[in-house]
Amino acid sequence: MFTPMTSTIDKPAKAIILYDSMSVGGSADRLIDSMGKNLAEAGAYVEKARCKTNADYRFVEEFDLVLLGAPIYYLLVASKLSGSLSQSNLRAALKGKKVALFVICGSPEPMAQFLYLPQLKMHLDNPVILAEKAFSPAETSDSKAIAEFTQNILDAYGKAN
Ligand SMILES: Cc1cc2nc3c(=O)[nH]c(=O)nc-3n(C[C@H](O)[C@H](O)[C@H](O)COP(=O)(O)O)c2cc1C
Repeated sequence: MFTPMTSTIDKPAKAIILYDSMSVGGSADRLIDSMGKNLAEAGAYVEKARCKTNADYRFVEEFDLVLLGAPIYYLLVASKLSGSLSQSNLRAALKGKKVALFVICGSPEPMAQFLYLPQLKMHLDNPVILAEKAFSPAETSDSKAIAEFTQNILDAYGKAN
């Protein structure tokens, strides 16, 4: 008897990157475009959306995978992402979702782990966090580091199903 040669690795069909940045065309835009490209190459339909604090985030429910992240300014996650998480229906829309988290910061990794990534996690109810990473500004141009993060997300997505 033969087992069918079908792939059992589950992949996200629809992914969205929710982010904020004080700049346009800066390191956040660069990172998000690269991550989006990597996810699309892996077969996902990808959208990105710059957060607005009082937006209606019910549309997020249709996505299988949500990437959330932003640069750090003055010790805080960029305000429209953190504001969306604390003040809009984004938190409810993310309930039980598979998410990946990232920050971009000039500080060393341990500081990001203790001070910055928790600013995102504290707003999530019962999330499935597939991967998380603090990118240095230089890493937002490092295609290898970005591909590794995206692959970690996809690997964890396959295992989480
Ligand atoms: C005004 C300002 C404040 C910043 N404050 C911090 C900080 O408190 N901690 C940190 O690790 N990085 C800090 N950074 C570094 C940024 O997180 C980093 O430069 C990031 O790449 C900026 O993203 P952007 O190019 O999309 O704006 C700051 C940068 C700026 C411009």
